Amino acid sequence: MKLELVAKAAEARERALAPYSDFKVGAALKTRDGRIYTGCNIENASYGLSICAERVALWKALSEGAREFRQMAIVSDAETPTPPCGACRQLLWEYCGDIVVYLHSLQGHDAQHQLSELFPFPFDNRSL
Ligand code: THU
Repeated sequence: MKLELVAKAAEARERALAPYSDFKVGAALKTRDGRIYTGCNIENASYGLSICAERVALWKALSEGAREFRQMAIVSDAETPTPPCGACRQLLWEYCGDIVVYLHSLQGHDAQHQLSELFPFPFDNRSL
């Protein structure tokens, strides 16, 4: 359920390695059969090598064999809920399809979107 997924993303956020931006993010991705994979952002002194929390969760899930997904929760401490960046939207669309995306800020704000709302005109295999 939503609260469990948000709690897992909040726990993962605690493990973020974000010394350059000081912007910690956690993500939790749930499969159709109820497994949860978490991720946090991991930054590098070569800034462009940093990776978002959502992608860490997605790569962990895919590399463990998960293929069917239902929901993702994303947690930050920002003034407004943090939506996934454009690159993550592209990757989530490719591998997860039209999942529900829960956004939660530790400052007390929540939002919920379908990925298709966040990424309405995708480039995907239908275009190839
Ligand atoms: N970040 C995420 O992990 N997920 C998002 O949805 C937005 C941005 C990270 C990347 C970088 O480490 C920091 O937040 C600031 O952009």
